[in-house]
Amino acid sequence: MRIGVFCSGGDAPGMNACVRAVVRAAVDKDHQVVGILRGYQGLLKEDFFINKDGEPRMILRSVSGWSRYGGAFLRSSRCDEFLTEAGQMKAVATLKKHGIDALVAIGGDGTFHGAVDLARHWDGQIVGCPGTIDNDLMGTDFTIGFSTAVQTAVEAVDKIRDTAESHERMFLIEVMGRHSGYIAVHTAVAAGAEVVCVPETPTKIKDIVAHLNDLRGRGKSSIMMIVAEGDEEGGAEILHEQLKESGCPFSMRVVILGHLQRGGNPTPEDRMLGSRTGVAAVEAILDGKTGVMTGVAGERTTLTPFEETYAQHRPIPQELLELLEVLSS
Ligand code: F6P
Repeated sequence: MRIGVFCSGGDAPGMNACVRAVVRAAVDKDHQVVGILRGYQGLLKEDFFINKDGEPRMILRSVSGWSRYGGAFLRSSRCDEFLTEAGQMKAVATLKKHGIDALVAIGGDGTFHGAVDLARHWDGQIVGCPGTIDNDLMGTDFTIGFSTAVQTAVEAVDKIRDTAESHERMFLIEVMGRHSGYIAVHTAVAAGAEVVCVPETPTKIKDIVAHLNDLRGRGKSSIMMIVAEGDEEGGAEILHEQLKESGCPFSMRVVILGHLQRGGNPTPEDRMLGSRTGVAAVEAILDGKTGVMTGVAGERTTLTPFEETYAQHRPIPQELLELLEVLSS
């Protein structure tokens, strides 16, 4: 078989480990792998990874050492043209021209929406791997890149705590997660933050101020408030204004961590997840499967139809929110 592999959407540490796993698993079974550059855009532009022999093919040595690096060596993009039917037909023409029988799509919900659109016009197989720092997909315990993003955020919060303590200040730290509070909640628990604001629960400024007064009364002199960028009330800058107007008892500063969270060498967990889901994707293709995302739940690898991975908003376990409340007192 000729299997195409690409990364799409926001890059995530561990994507390279996933590509490496796809290449190694496919070549091991004597199949060919075509690396498609810049996600769906590469399919429109016939933009492929060229190996050292000048061939548009990935070989065993093409991916040597890839698992330890962040970013996406195959590049990634969000491609507007692919959202149109004309763009999708162009992608199909490329796939047919280059004899590609199956695709491994590494990305998040946007990538899998794209895969579902493509499948309407193409009869090849498409299997996905969960590549997004947001951890917002159903069908897998974690997504590739989440662990590294949380580690980066926790390290940043630890450092900010040092200066917050010296100056007896409160910091509002905004973390990524377009529609999801997963990074925020995990960061908050792991870094011992006092407050977290996420889109999954209502953010009530009055209640937060009351809680802050209470904490001040109990002797807290520095406060870490983690804000998911997708909070329904707005990001850290907006919440900062609202807290100021509502009589917040602490002197405040805002830090937006932003794309810092998308870089860096992947944690062992992300390397493992990328490797496991990459191999599982090739196995699924060889098994005749299509329209599914590979994942890991508990100790098992899983397959979930694309539509199910994004149909539902993935809830944050109530237990984690309660944990934060207990620990932050
Ligand atoms: O989906 C991953 C993500 O990192 C989100 O957390 C964030 O909102 C978004 O991508 C940022 O996208 P861009 O790289 O296009 O600014």
